[in-house]
Amino acid sequence: MGSIGFVPTMGALHEGHLSLVAESNKTCKNTVVSIYLNPTQFAQGEDLDSYPQKLQVDLNKLSEYEVDCVFTPNNSEMYPEGFKTNNYSNNLFTLLEGKSRPEFFKGVTTIVAKLFDIVEPTHTFFGEKDFQQLCIIKKMVKDLYYPIQVVPCPIIRKKNGLAMSSRNVYLTKSEHDIAATINHALESGKNLLQLGERSSYLIKDKISKSIAAEKLFRVDYVSVADSITLAEISGFIEKDILVSTAVFLGGTRLIDNFSYSISSSK
Ligand code: PAF
Repeated sequence: MGSIGFVPTMGALHEGHLSLVAESNKTCKNTVVSIYLNPTQFAQGEDLDSYPQKLQVDLNKLSEYEVDCVFTPNNSEMYPEGFKTNNYSNNLFTLLEGKSRPEFFKGVTTIVAKLFDIVEPTHTFFGEKDFQQLCIIKKMVKDLYYPIQVVPCPIIRKKNGLAMSSRNVYLTKSEHDIAATINHALESGKNLLQLGERSSYLIKDKISKSIAAEKLFRVDYVSVADSITLAEISGFIEKDILVSTAVFLGGTRLIDNFSYSISSSK
């Protein structure tokens, strides 16, 4: 059978997802994609009911790639009657995104573990756009001894810098342009780092002020964290970091990030 690359998705596929499929095609003999809108990772009041679903469009997009199987289970298959939830949890669940979305990673790891058990991949491909999700899946694979290689893939952006996301369809044309300034704000922090600034406070301040310049944004968080433990860095930056933010634009919650290697910039 050879290697099996697995790309789990919730559908509404964009170039970010397709880059994961392309990477799987490059790395593995076989590629499996799942499309399943997982209800357990949405809290009440979040966008489960309005989340974009375009199965036929997604299948057409995937037909441009070498995909051996598209797995499109339904809710009763993934959560049969009486199913509670798995007990897996790790110390990354409650940080960053987990503070604002306390049930999110429980839902993600529950479904991803189920999908791993069904698909039995040798490799799985996760985007760095959801950096914390990637870290949590890597840790789950290690903790539960899944014989799977987790392959991180870079964020894919529009020309204006906006990170690709299925939720971008909620944005109007003018909101798209506004949303792209989140990346510009992060870039302003990265520039400071490149100039040698090592105060996490000043990096966060620069990014926060740059985001706040756009009155339509409501900031959830701006974070400078250790890129391995995801623990917030509150002083001098000595380690490789993840700089990340979550911002509301109208009713749409947008996330973006970059990693910065202090060790390789010395
Ligand atoms: O990143 C996503 O689209 C989802 O969280 C995932 C990994 C497909 C699990 O539902």
